[in-house]
Amino acid sequence: MWVFGYGSLIWRPAIPFEDEVVADLAGYARRFWQGSTDHRGVPGAPGRVVTLVEDPRAQCRGRAFEVPEKMVSRVVAQLDHREQGGYDRLMVPLEAADGRRLEAAVYLATADNPNWLGPASADAIADQVLRSHGPSGSNTEYVLELDRALDEIGALDPHVHAVAEAVRVRMGR
Ligand code: SIN
Repeated sequence: MWVFGYGSLIWRPAIPFEDEVVADLAGYARRFWQGSTDHRGVPGAPGRVVTLVEDPRAQCRGRAFEVPEKMVSRVVAQLDHREQGGYDRLMVPLEAADGRRLEAAVYLATADNPNWLGPASADAIADQVLRSHGPSGSNTEYVLELDRALDEIGALDPHVHAVAEAVRVRMGR
């Protein structure tokens, strides 16, 4: 089974895998529109994390991981738990950077989940990120690590980068 990561799974997969590849998911854009009350924020003071929103002209680049056959059920249970704050698991087609076509599980949060926050400007998102912390750490770390990891795989994302720049300005970096 393949798993597609486009957020924290890119820079902290924390799952066993026997193969990995940079891959594109067509028809979706990555956005900081999901609230996090269990990782990068707390109930009443959510952080902002990424989800995927449908956009026929968009393409989202991330990392796909192949989970060893005998570990699939344990990894699915682990990821279902990790992504339980509003994300659904579904199967999507990917185009890998090496030309392979893959079917992968992806976790995405839609507007009908209770933690959905929706669109905001990069400045407003950065303000919220700076004040948010949760059991997995600071929201700032999530944003800056994602921006760094996307740059590393040659997939700088203008939306993520704008939020990261606004965070860095506020941190005086
Ligand atoms: C993902 O990384 O693929 C899901 C969203 C997240 O946990 O950041």
